[in-house]
Amino acid sequence: MYKVAVIGLGMGSRWAMAVRELPNTQLVMVYDKYYEENTFIPRERVTGPGITVAREEDEIYHSDADIVIIASPDNCHREQCVKALQAGKHVICEKPLALTLEDCRQIIAAVKASGRQFMTGQVCRYAPGFRTAKALVEAGRIGRLVYLESEYAHDYEFAKGYREWRKDPAIQRQGFLGGGCHALDLTRWIAGDPTEVFCYMNHIFMPDWPTPDTGVAVVKFPNEVLGRIFVSTGVKRPYTMRTVIYGTEGTIICDNTSDHIQISEKALRDSTGTMAFNDIPVAIANHNVTSELKDFVGALDAGVPCATDVYQGTRTVAFADAAIRSAQSGRPEAVDYNY
Ligand SMILES: NC(=O)c1ccc[n+]([C@@H]2O[C@H](COP(=O)([O-])OP(=O)(O)OC[C@H]3O[C@@H](n4cnc5c(N)ncnc54)[C@H](O)[C@@H]3O)[C@@H](O)[C@H]2O)c1
Repeated sequence: MYKVAVIGLGMGSRWAMAVRELPNTQLVMVYDKYYEENTFIPRERVTGPGITVAREEDEIYHSDADIVIIASPDNCHREQCVKALQAGKHVICEKPLALTLEDCRQIIAAVKASGRQFMTGQVCRYAPGFRTAKALVEAGRIGRLVYLESEYAHDYEFAKGYREWRKDPAIQRQGFLGGGCHALDLTRWIAGDPTEVFCYMNHIFMPDWPTPDTGVAVVKFPNEVLGRIFVSTGVKRPYTMRTVIYGTEGTIICDNTSDHIQISEKALRDSTGTMAFNDIPVAIANHNVTSELKDFVGALDAGVPCATDVYQGTRTVAFADAAIRSAQSGRPEAVDYNY
Protein backbone atom coordinates (compact mmCIF):
# COMPACT_ATOMS: atom_id res chain seq x y z
CA MET A 1 0.00 0.00 0.00
CA TYR A 2 1.38 3.41 -1.01
CA LYS A 3 0.53 6.37 1.19
CA VAL A 4 -0.20 9.48 -0.87
CA ALA A 5 -0.39 13.23 -0.14
CA VAL A 6 -1.82 15.85 -2.51
CA ILE A 7 -0.83 19.54 -2.78
CA GLY A 8 -3.32 21.96 -4.42
CA LEU A 9 -6.97 20.91 -4.39
CA GLY A 10 -8.46 22.11 -7.68
CA MET A 11 -7.27 19.52 -10.21
CA GLY A 12 -5.70 17.91 -7.13
CA SER A 13 -9.16 16.94 -5.88
CA ARG A 14 -9.49 14.67 -8.94
CA TRP A 15 -6.16 13.10 -8.03
CA ALA A 16 -7.42 12.64 -4.47
CA MET A 17 -10.41 10.70 -5.81
CA ALA A 18 -8.13 8.55 -7.96
CA VAL A 19 -5.98 7.77 -4.91
CA ARG A 20 -9.11 6.75 -3.02
CA GLU A 21 -10.33 4.59 -5.93
CA LEU A 22 -7.24 2.45 -6.44
CA PRO A 23 -6.82 -0.57 -4.15
CA ASN A 24 -3.10 -0.07 -3.45
CA THR A 25 -3.03 3.68 -2.69
CA GLN A 26 -4.22 5.44 0.45
CA LEU A 27 -4.84 9.18 0.79
CA VAL A 28 -3.19 10.29 4.04
CA MET A 29 -2.78 14.07 3.71
CA VAL A 30 -3.88 17.04 1.62
CA TYR A 31 -2.65 20.63 1.60
CA ASP A 32 -4.02 23.74 -0.09
CA LYS A 33 -2.61 27.17 0.72
CA TYR A 34 -6.10 28.67 0.68
CA TYR A 35 -7.99 25.73 2.15
CA GLU A 36 -10.02 27.79 4.63
CA GLU A 37 -11.14 30.53 2.25
CA ASN A 38 -11.35 28.64 -1.08
CA THR A 39 -14.96 27.45 -1.25
CA PHE A 40 -14.38 25.85 -4.68
CA ILE A 41 -12.47 22.98 -3.08
CA PRO A 42 -14.79 19.93 -3.15
CA ARG A 43 -14.32 18.95 0.49
CA GLU A 44 -16.11 15.61 0.13
CA ARG A 45 -13.33 14.47 -2.25
CA VAL A 46 -10.44 15.39 0.04
CA THR A 47 -11.63 14.72 3.58
CA GLY A 48 -12.49 11.52 5.45
CA PRO A 49 -11.18 9.05 8.01
CA GLY A 50 -7.38 8.82 8.02
CA ILE A 51 -6.89 11.98 5.91
CA THR A 52 -5.11 14.92 7.56
CA VAL A 53 -5.77 18.39 6.19
CA ALA A 54 -2.33 20.00 6.64
CA ARG A 55 -2.23 23.59 7.82
CA GLU A 56 1.38 24.13 6.68
CA GLU A 57 3.01 22.91 3.47
CA ASP A 58 5.95 21.44 5.43
CA GLU A 59 3.65 18.90 7.08
CA ILE A 60 3.47 17.18 3.67
CA TYR A 61 7.25 16.76 3.49
CA HIS A 62 7.46 15.55 7.10
CA SER A 63 4.55 13.13 6.66
CA ASP A 64 4.83 9.36 6.12
CA ALA A 65 3.47 9.70 2.57
CA ASP A 66 5.41 7.67 -0.03
CA ILE A 67 4.08 9.68 -2.99
CA VAL A 68 3.37 13.42 -3.22
CA ILE A 69 1.08 14.64 -6.01
CA ILE A 70 1.65 18.31 -6.89
CA ALA A 71 -1.36 20.03 -8.47
CA SER A 72 -0.75 23.61 -7.39
CA PRO A 73 -0.47 26.53 -9.88
CA ASP A 74 2.33 26.12 -12.44
CA ASN A 75 4.63 28.66 -10.77
CA CYS A 76 4.76 26.53 -7.57
CA HIS A 77 5.83 23.28 -9.27
CA ARG A 78 9.62 23.68 -9.20
CA GLU A 79 9.93 24.53 -5.53
CA GLN A 80 7.38 21.95 -4.35
CA CYS A 81 8.83 19.16 -6.55
CA VAL A 82 12.34 19.83 -5.25
CA LYS A 83 11.19 19.92 -1.61
CA ALA A 84 9.19 16.69 -1.96
CA LEU A 85 12.11 14.89 -3.66
CA GLN A 86 14.56 16.14 -1.01
CA ALA A 87 12.18 14.74 1.60
CA GLY A 88 12.53 11.32 -0.10
CA LYS A 89 9.08 11.24 -1.70
CA HIS A 90 8.16 9.87 -5.10
CA VAL A 91 6.50 12.70 -7.03
CA ILE A 92 3.74 13.14 -9.58
CA CYS A 93 3.60 16.72 -10.87
CA GLU A 94 0.84 18.19 -13.00
CA LYS A 95 1.63 19.59 -16.43
CA PRO A 96 3.33 21.81 -17.39
CA LEU A 97 6.32 20.50 -15.45
CA ALA A 98 7.54 24.06 -14.78
CA LEU A 99 7.49 27.58 -16.18
CA THR A 100 11.02 27.52 -17.62
CA LEU A 101 13.67 25.07 -18.81
CA GLU A 102 15.94 26.27 -16.02
CA ASP A 103 13.28 25.24 -13.47
CA CYS A 104 13.05 21.84 -15.20
CA ARG A 105 16.83 21.42 -14.89
CA GLN A 106 16.55 21.98 -11.13
CA ILE A 107 13.82 19.35 -10.89
CA ILE A 108 15.93 16.89 -12.94
CA ALA A 109 18.86 17.48 -10.56
CA ALA A 110 16.62 16.79 -7.56
CA VAL A 111 15.25 13.59 -9.17
CA LYS A 112 18.81 12.37 -9.80
CA ALA A 113 20.01 13.23 -6.29
CA SER A 114 17.01 11.58 -4.63
CA GLY A 115 16.81 8.41 -6.70
CA ARG A 116 13.03 8.70 -6.39
CA GLN A 117 10.47 8.10 -9.14
CA PHE A 118 8.92 11.04 -10.97
CA MET A 119 5.93 11.44 -13.27
CA THR A 120 4.83 14.49 -15.25
CA GLY A 121 1.04 14.46 -15.53
CA GLN A 122 0.62 14.53 -19.31
CA VAL A 123 -2.93 13.24 -19.10
CA CYS A 124 -3.69 13.38 -22.85
CA ARG A 125 -1.55 10.29 -23.26
CA TYR A 126 -4.29 8.54 -21.27
CA ALA A 127 -7.27 9.78 -23.33
CA PRO A 128 -8.76 6.70 -25.06
CA GLY A 129 -9.11 8.49 -28.43
CA PHE A 130 -5.46 9.53 -28.51
CA ARG A 131 -4.26 6.13 -27.29
CA THR A 132 -6.25 4.42 -30.06
CA ALA A 133 -4.87 6.84 -32.66
CA LYS A 134 -1.28 6.23 -31.56
CA ALA A 135 -1.79 2.45 -31.58
CA LEU A 136 -3.16 2.64 -35.14
CA VAL A 137 -0.16 4.71 -36.28
CA GLU A 138 2.23 2.24 -34.67
CA ALA A 139 0.39 -0.69 -36.27
CA GLY A 140 1.06 0.91 -39.67
CA ARG A 141 -2.62 1.47 -40.49
CA ILE A 142 -1.95 4.88 -42.08
CA GLY A 143 1.47 3.98 -43.48
CA ARG A 144 4.45 6.28 -43.06
CA LEU A 145 3.76 9.41 -41.03
CA VAL A 146 3.95 12.58 -43.15
CA TYR A 147 2.24 15.46 -41.30
CA LEU A 148 0.23 15.94 -38.12
CA GLU A 149 -1.59 18.84 -36.54
CA SER A 150 -3.08 19.33 -33.12
CA GLU A 151 -4.94 22.20 -31.54
CA TYR A 152 -5.51 23.18 -27.97
CA ALA A 153 -8.47 25.55 -28.16
CA HIS A 154 -9.97 26.47 -24.81
CA ASP A 155 -11.70 29.66 -23.69
CA TYR A 156 -10.05 30.69 -20.40
CA GLU A 157 -12.39 33.60 -19.76
CA PHE A 158 -13.98 31.50 -16.99
CA ALA A 159 -10.89 29.43 -16.18
CA LYS A 160 -8.62 31.95 -14.55
CA GLY A 161 -7.82 29.66 -11.61
CA TYR A 162 -8.22 30.43 -7.92
CA ARG A 163 -7.26 34.05 -7.22
CA GLU A 164 -6.80 34.37 -11.01
CA TRP A 165 -3.29 32.87 -11.01
CA ARG A 166 -3.47 32.10 -14.76
CA LYS A 167 -3.88 35.82 -15.41
CA ASP A 168 -1.37 37.06 -12.82
CA PRO A 169 1.20 39.43 -14.44
CA ALA A 170 3.76 38.35 -11.83
CA ILE A 171 3.58 34.74 -13.10
CA GLN A 172 3.57 35.57 -16.84
CA ARG A 173 1.92 32.24 -17.67
CA GLN A 174 2.28 31.52 -21.39
CA GLY A 175 -0.75 29.86 -23.00
CA PHE A 176 1.49 27.96 -25.40
CA LEU A 177 3.11 26.25 -22.42
CA GLY A 178 0.35 26.17 -19.78
CA GLY A 179 -2.44 24.71 -21.94
CA GLY A 180 -0.61 24.23 -25.23
CA CYS A 181 1.68 21.65 -23.63
CA HIS A 182 -1.16 19.14 -24.13
CA ALA A 183 -1.01 19.46 -27.93
CA LEU A 184 2.79 19.75 -27.95
CA ASP A 185 3.22 16.63 -25.83
CA LEU A 186 0.68 14.69 -27.88
CA THR A 187 2.45 15.39 -31.18
CA ARG A 188 5.87 14.63 -29.63
CA TRP A 189 4.48 11.34 -28.34
CA ILE A 190 3.30 10.35 -31.82
CA ALA A 191 5.98 11.89 -34.09
CA GLY A 192 9.09 12.06 -31.87
CA ASP A 193 11.15 14.95 -30.55
CA PRO A 194 10.97 18.04 -32.80
CA THR A 195 14.13 19.81 -33.91
CA GLU A 196 12.89 23.24 -35.01
CA VAL A 197 9.83 25.45 -34.52
CA PHE A 198 8.59 28.61 -36.25
CA CYS A 199 5.77 30.33 -34.41
CA TYR A 200 3.58 33.43 -34.64
CA MET A 201 1.39 34.65 -31.77
CA ASN A 202 -1.18 37.37 -31.28
CA HIS A 203 -3.01 38.92 -28.37
CA ILE A 204 -6.49 39.86 -29.57
CA PHE A 205 -8.99 37.72 -27.66
CA MET A 206 -7.83 38.69 -24.18
CA PRO A 207 -5.77 41.90 -24.35
CA ASP A 208 -6.04 42.35 -20.58
CA TRP A 209 -4.10 39.10 -19.98
CA PRO A 210 -0.31 39.47 -19.64
CA THR A 211 0.82 37.18 -22.48
CA PRO A 212 -0.36 36.32 -26.05
CA ASP A 213 -3.53 34.21 -26.10
CA THR A 214 -3.23 32.66 -29.58
CA GLY A 215 -0.41 31.15 -31.58
CA VAL A 216 0.38 28.85 -34.45
CA ALA A 217 3.62 26.92 -34.78
CA VAL A 218 5.07 25.06 -37.76
CA VAL A 219 7.30 22.22 -36.64
CA LYS A 220 10.03 19.95 -38.01
CA PHE A 221 9.80 16.47 -36.50
CA PRO A 222 12.27 13.61 -37.12
CA ASN A 223 12.14 11.67 -40.43
CA GLU A 224 11.00 14.73 -42.44
CA VAL A 225 7.60 14.72 -40.68
CA LEU A 226 6.03 18.18 -40.51
CA GLY A 227 3.58 19.50 -37.94
CA ARG A 228 1.39 22.40 -37.00
CA ILE A 229 0.23 23.29 -33.50
CA PHE A 230 -2.54 25.81 -32.89
CA VAL A 231 -2.99 27.06 -29.34
CA SER A 232 -5.59 29.53 -28.18
CA THR A 233 -6.86 30.29 -24.71
CA GLY A 234 -9.33 32.87 -26.00
CA VAL A 235 -11.43 31.06 -28.64
CA LYS A 236 -15.21 31.36 -28.49
CA ARG A 237 -16.21 27.71 -28.86
CA PRO A 238 -16.34 24.56 -26.69
CA TYR A 239 -12.98 23.12 -25.67
CA THR A 240 -11.30 20.91 -28.27
CA MET A 241 -8.01 19.16 -28.90
CA ARG A 242 -8.81 18.15 -32.46
CA THR A 243 -5.85 16.31 -33.91
CA VAL A 244 -5.31 15.10 -37.49
CA ILE A 245 -2.61 12.62 -38.46
CA TYR A 246 -1.74 12.10 -42.12
CA GLY A 247 0.16 9.05 -43.37
CA THR A 248 0.99 7.65 -46.81
CA GLU A 249 -1.82 5.08 -46.49
CA GLY A 250 -4.50 6.98 -44.62
CA THR A 251 -5.61 9.70 -42.22
CA ILE A 252 -6.84 9.76 -38.61
CA ILE A 253 -8.95 12.49 -36.99
CA CYS A 254 -9.25 12.33 -33.23
CA ASP A 255 -10.16 14.42 -30.20
CA ASN A 256 -10.42 13.78 -26.47
CA THR A 257 -13.97 15.16 -26.35
CA SER A 258 -15.53 12.81 -28.92
CA ASP A 259 -16.94 9.29 -28.47
CA HIS A 260 -15.27 8.12 -31.67
CA ILE A 261 -12.20 8.70 -33.78
CA GLN A 262 -12.22 8.61 -37.59
CA ILE A 263 -9.92 6.75 -39.93
CA SER A 264 -9.73 6.86 -43.70
CA GLU A 265 -7.67 4.12 -45.33
CA LYS A 266 -6.34 3.97 -48.88
CA ALA A 267 -6.78 0.19 -48.83
CA LEU A 268 -10.54 0.63 -48.40
CA ARG A 269 -11.20 3.07 -51.25
CA ASP A 270 -13.84 2.01 -53.74
CA SER A 271 -13.47 1.35 -57.48
CA THR A 272 -13.91 5.06 -58.26
CA GLY A 273 -11.06 5.93 -55.90
CA THR A 274 -13.38 7.53 -53.36
CA MET A 275 -12.25 7.27 -49.76
CA ALA A 276 -14.51 7.56 -46.71
CA PHE A 277 -13.93 8.05 -43.02
CA ASN A 278 -14.96 5.18 -40.76
CA ASP A 279 -15.73 5.68 -37.08
CA ILE A 280 -14.02 3.78 -34.28
CA PRO A 281 -15.88 4.13 -30.97
CA VAL A 282 -13.83 5.25 -27.95
CA ALA A 283 -14.65 6.23 -24.39
CA ILE A 284 -14.46 9.92 -23.48
CA ALA A 285 -12.05 10.30 -20.57
CA ASN A 286 -10.05 13.51 -20.96
CA HIS A 287 -8.94 13.71 -17.33
CA ASN A 288 -8.05 10.07 -16.84
CA VAL A 289 -5.83 10.59 -13.79
CA THR A 290 -6.81 7.19 -12.38
CA SER A 291 -4.98 5.50 -15.27
CA GLU A 292 -2.01 7.83 -14.79
CA LEU A 293 -1.79 6.94 -11.12
CA LYS A 294 -2.17 3.23 -11.90
CA ASP A 295 0.78 3.46 -14.32
CA PHE A 296 2.88 5.33 -11.79
CA VAL A 297 2.24 2.76 -9.08
CA GLY A 298 2.93 0.00 -11.62
CA ALA A 299 6.30 1.61 -12.40
CA LEU A 300 7.06 1.85 -8.67
CA ASP A 301 6.22 -1.82 -8.20
CA ALA A 302 8.38 -2.79 -11.18
CA GLY A 303 11.21 -0.40 -10.22
CA VAL A 304 11.27 1.13 -13.72
CA PRO A 305 10.83 4.79 -14.79
CA CYS A 306 7.29 5.68 -15.80
CA ALA A 307 6.55 6.62 -19.41
CA THR A 308 6.11 10.34 -18.70
CA ASP A 309 9.15 10.80 -16.49
CA VAL A 310 10.91 14.08 -15.69
CA TYR A 311 12.72 14.11 -19.06
CA GLN A 312 9.47 13.73 -20.99
CA GLY A 313 7.96 16.64 -19.05
CA THR A 314 11.10 18.69 -19.69
CA ARG A 315 11.12 17.98 -23.45
CA THR A 316 7.57 19.21 -23.73
CA VAL A 317 8.53 22.40 -21.88
CA ALA A 318 11.50 22.71 -24.28
CA PHE A 319 9.13 22.42 -27.26
CA ALA A 320 6.95 25.24 -25.87
CA ASP A 321 10.06 27.25 -25.05
CA ALA A 322 11.23 27.07 -28.69
CA ALA A 323 7.79 28.22 -29.91
CA ILE A 324 7.72 31.14 -27.47
CA ARG A 325 11.28 32.16 -28.39
CA SER A 326 10.39 31.97 -32.09
CA ALA A 327 7.31 34.19 -31.65
CA GLN A 328 9.59 36.73 -29.96
CA SER A 329 12.53 36.52 -32.40
CA GLY A 330 10.53 36.20 -35.63
CA ARG A 331 12.79 33.33 -36.69
CA PRO A 332 12.69 29.52 -36.55
CA GLU A 333 14.23 28.34 -33.28
CA ALA A 334 15.91 25.04 -32.41
CA VAL A 335 14.51 23.02 -29.52
CA ASP A 336 16.95 22.91 -26.60
CA TYR A 337 17.77 19.36 -25.47
CA ASN A 338 20.62 20.39 -23.20
CA TYR A 339 19.75 18.76 -19.84
N1 LIG B 1 -3.97 17.58 -16.66
C1 LIG B 1 -4.93 18.45 -16.93
O1 LIG B 1 -5.69 18.31 -17.88
C2 LIG B 1 -5.06 19.64 -16.02
C3 LIG B 1 -6.30 20.28 -15.91
C4 LIG B 1 -6.39 21.37 -15.04
C5 LIG B 1 -5.27 21.81 -14.36
N2 LIG B 1 -4.09 21.16 -14.51
C6 LIG B 1 -2.89 21.63 -13.81
O2 LIG B 1 -3.13 21.53 -12.41
C7 LIG B 1 -2.51 22.63 -11.73
C8 LIG B 1 -3.59 23.37 -10.94
O3 LIG B 1 -4.55 23.88 -11.82
P1 LIG B 1 -6.09 24.02 -11.38
O4 LIG B 1 -6.90 24.11 -12.63
O5 LIG B 1 -6.43 22.97 -10.39
O6 LIG B 1 -6.05 25.45 -10.68
P2 LIG B 1 -7.04 25.96 -9.53
O7 LIG B 1 -6.76 27.40 -9.35
O8 LIG B 1 -8.43 25.51 -9.83
O9 LIG B 1 -6.56 25.15 -8.25
C9 LIG B 1 -5.30 25.36 -7.69
C10 LIG B 1 -5.41 25.13 -6.19
O10 LIG B 1 -4.12 25.34 -5.63
C11 LIG B 1 -4.26 26.15 -4.45
N3 LIG B 1 -2.98 26.84 -4.27
C12 LIG B 1 -2.58 28.05 -4.72
N4 LIG B 1 -1.29 28.27 -4.38
C13 LIG B 1 -0.89 27.17 -3.70
C14 LIG B 1 0.34 26.80 -3.08
N5 LIG B 1 1.43 27.58 -3.11
N6 LIG B 1 0.39 25.60 -2.47
C15 LIG B 1 -0.68 24.79 -2.41
N7 LIG B 1 -1.87 25.09 -2.97
C16 LIG B 1 -1.96 26.26 -3.62
C17 LIG B 1 -5.47 27.01 -4.70
O11 LIG B 1 -6.09 27.43 -3.50
C18 LIG B 1 -6.37 26.09 -5.52
O12 LIG B 1 -7.25 25.35 -4.68
C19 LIG B 1 -1.86 23.49 -12.81
O13 LIG B 1 -0.50 23.17 -12.92
C20 LIG B 1 -2.59 23.10 -14.08
O14 LIG B 1 -1.82 23.26 -15.25
C21 LIG B 1 -3.97 20.09 -15.31
